[in-house]
Amino acid sequence: MILTKDEQALLDGKMGEALSKAMQILVALGKIYHAENMVPITSAQIAGVSYDNLGEDGLDFLNEMAVNGDRVRVLTTLNPAGMDIENWRALGITADFAEKQIRVIDAFKQMGIIPTCSCTPYLVGNLPLFGDHIAWAESSAVCFANSIIGARTNREGGPSALAAALTGRTPAYGLHLNEGRLPTLHVEIPCDIQGETAFGALGAAYGLILEGSKVRHVPIFTGISRATLDELKAFSASIATYAGTALFHIRDITPEANRFALPDEHLVITLEQVEQALVRFSTPEPVETDFYTLGCPHLSLNELIVIAKKLAGKKVKKEFWLTTARPTKEIAQKLGIIQIIEETGAKVVADTCCVVAPIGKKYHTLATNSAKGIYYASSKHHFHTRFLTEDQIIAEVTR
Ligand code: F3S
Repeated sequence: MILTKDEQALLDGKMGEALSKAMQILVALGKIYHAENMVPITSAQIAGVSYDNLGEDGLDFLNEMAVNGDRVRVLTTLNPAGMDIENWRALGITADFAEKQIRVIDAFKQMGIIPTCSCTPYLVGNLPLFGDHIAWAESSAVCFANSIIGARTNREGGPSALAAALTGRTPAYGLHLNEGRLPTLHVEIPCDIQGETAFGALGAAYGLILEGSKVRHVPIFTGISRATLDELKAFSASIATYAGTALFHIRDITPEANRFALPDEHLVITLEQVEQALVRFSTPEPVETDFYTLGCPHLSLNELIVIAKKLAGKKVKKEFWLTTARPTKEIAQKLGIIQIIEETGAKVVADTCCVVAPIGKKYHTLATNSAKGIYYASSKHHFHTRFLTEDQIIAEVTR
């Protein structure tokens, strides 16, 4: 790799051990993927924040990076933590876990990272521009940033995103390069897809059809005539989870899609296949659902407003979490939306989500409208799962 003088100095430890370690991570990555050089980045998003996933080793690594007082060089935000930082007691989090989680957040804060604790950084102030090079971890946000915004990032891991944030650069390979963004598979959708559950199911159906394929495609979809920001947020999370996709294009919707000719390789996804994905991720036998959640990825302000209207005046009789970013919750609070929701008995939970919070032993069956949430609730927490629409969930929790 060709390094600039500054990059070489960082690598050689002239600016301290932590920055040298950060450059070593980036150079090693660059060599693996045959990057010729580094590119400067404008923003970073760090994942691997929950103490439940990090453990003591992860916390030690963070403390090592934080100890010299080095600060991030670009706007850097954090993924969800393992608990609501202000309201953890009400969610049954132990004091021991809370103390460790707060040490994790403190280490990030010491490095100048903003503890947004959200997987939707683009909704809470970390919004890159079209064409910006960025270094984001969090597969759903990576997919959204590449596909919907047209920014450029590979799927970073927690350590490589942190290394990029501290040095302000990332190796130029993959989706940073024009050739990495070319569509390789034309996916035709001959049916109307509407709603976040349906868009989530479409991402899951795509992943199931390509299961076992050795090629990681950049798909270009045709036949989708409209999509809301919240549907695209759900779709990004789902296709990233089920197919490992970090970039997709949708003709006439996403910003790069109309630049490209359609590739010859072609696939059609039917309504039946989308509906099958919905059924496949629901536990077949009737089981009592003891945990309901909306907000994977984190709910937008608009979603909270819509949910508040649907819940207003009703009583929630089940454990029901609405997960969102704290800044979004604070705006909703000022608008009186949180009060409307909480008066029903539903819980508006900030900073965390049903996957990264340590709730595996507390519940048995989770219902959500999120395809990604279903995947991890089953694989990480071993919950039975039910893949429902938002309206079905609201009807069940208030029945
Ligand atoms: Fe976000 Fe948690 Fe889902 S991090 S995308 S709400 S699994």
